[in-house]
Amino acid sequence: ETMRTPYEMIGGADTLSRLVDTFYDLVARHPDLAPLFPEDFTEVKERQYMFLTQFLGGPTLYSNRHGHPMLRARHIRFPIGPVQAEAWLACMKTAMDKTGLEGEIREQIFERLRLTAYHMVNKWDQEE
Ligand code: HEM
Repeated sequence: ETMRTPYEMIGGADTLSRLVDTFYDLVARHPDLAPLFPEDFTEVKERQYMFLTQFLGGPTLYSNRHGHPMLRARHIRFPIGPVQAEAWLACMKTAMDKTGLEGEIREQIFERLRLTAYHMVNKWDQEE
């Protein structure tokens, strides 16, 4: 098998757009996450779709439109603790289940997202 990207292995644009839609529908209902987001998720969904496309080795949609992702810097204005990181990951896990992402590739992607989620943590002195 010649080198396929994770983007190709999960089914490309169609799978990713279903994943992102499902994910933010869960985020919008999660008590630890929803308050951080605007009421209208259209723009966030679009940006995340473009970001994940390039994160997984697909076309560089995000950078073409918005420049360097600088994700940690773009998250610094939101208070993100381990509670929010775990909530984000829990929504992503459920979204992956609902989208039918399975197997080794799903686990690999999830582990990369776990690292990225903890990279966004900017508030470690959280009660709970
Ligand atoms: C944007 C929260 C983790 C990718 C945002 C926004 C919030 C947020 C509140 C901005 C919404 C707005 O525009 O008003 C969180 C929280 C996380 C988290 C609480 C928990 C750790 C991640 C991870 C990724 C990611 C792991 C990537 C895999 C993005 C992207 C944007 C964004 C691409 C749009 C950035 C932009 O273009 O401005 N996030 N995020 N986030 N997030 Fe996260």
